Amino acid sequence: MYGAALKQLETKIDIINNEFKTLHKYNPIEHVSSRIKSKESIYKKLKKKGLEPTYENLVKTINDIAGIRIICSFIPDIFKIVEMLENMTDITVIKKKDYVTTPKTNGYSSYHLIVSVPVSLSMGTINVKVEIQIRTMAMDFWASLEHKINYKYDKQIPKGIKKELKECAKMTQKLDKRMSHLGRNLMEEEKQIVKEITTEYSTVYATALLTGNAGV
Ligand code: GTP
Ligand code: MG
Repeated sequence: MYGAALKQLETKIDIINNEFKTLHKYNPIEHVSSRIKSKESIYKKLKKKGLEPTYENLVKTINDIAGIRIICSFIPDIFKIVEMLENMTDITVIKKKDYVTTPKTNGYSSYHLIVSVPVSLSMGTINVKVEIQIRTMAMDFWASLEHKINYKYDKQIPKGIKKELKECAKMTQKLDKRMSHLGRNLMEEEKQIVKEITTEYSTVYATALLTGNAGV
C-alpha cells in the first residue's frame, strides 16, 4: 500500500518535471528518491511514542512510513513544486512545514508536506499518507552530513560541533541565496523565450488546458 502510493507520486512528479522541461526548457528537479521506513524504525518510533506496535497505531500515528525526497536546483523551485503538488486534485495536503523560510534552530532547512494519496486496490480505494521533503542540493548536503554526525554521537552532539554545524548551515543558506539569484536571471530569460515561441505544441497544450481534455 505504501509502495503503491510512492509509485503514484513518483510518476506525478516525473510528469511535472517533464512538462516543465518541455514548456520552459528547464527542469526544476535535480533528482527524486524514495524509501519505505524499515520495520525496526517503525517499531522504535511507536515505542518512543509510548504506543503498542499495532497496525492501527502505525497507520494513525506515523506519517513518514512512505517518504519521498525531491532535490531542486534553486530555492524558488521548492515553492513552485509545493504549489504544483497543492494544485493536484487527487492528492490532499494534510500538513505543511516550511523550514525554508524559517530554518530550525539547529540550521536544518527543507519544506515538508504530509499528503494523502488515493490508492486503488482490488478491494477498494484507500488513502495513504506520504511524507514529501523538498530541498535544494545545498540543503540536502547539510542535512545528510548532519544526520550522519547526529548518528555518530547518538543524537548527543557536543556543543562545539553543534555551533559549527549551525555556522555551516548559515553558509549553505548564503550559497543557496546567491545561486538562486543567478538562477533568477536564467528563469527570466527562459520566460521571455517561452513567450516568444508559439509552436504547434503550445497551441495544442493551451487548447487542452482550456477545454480540460486532450481531444478525447
Ligand atoms: P519525525 O521527526 O519524523 O518524527 O517527525 P516530526 O514531527 O518531528 O517532523 P519534521 O517535519 O520536523 O521532520 C520530519 C523529518 O525531517 C525527519 O524524520 C528527518 O528526516 C527530517 N528532519 C527534521 N529535522 C531534521 C534535522 O534537524 N536534521 C536532519 N538531518 N533531518 C531532519
Ligand atoms: Mg522521519
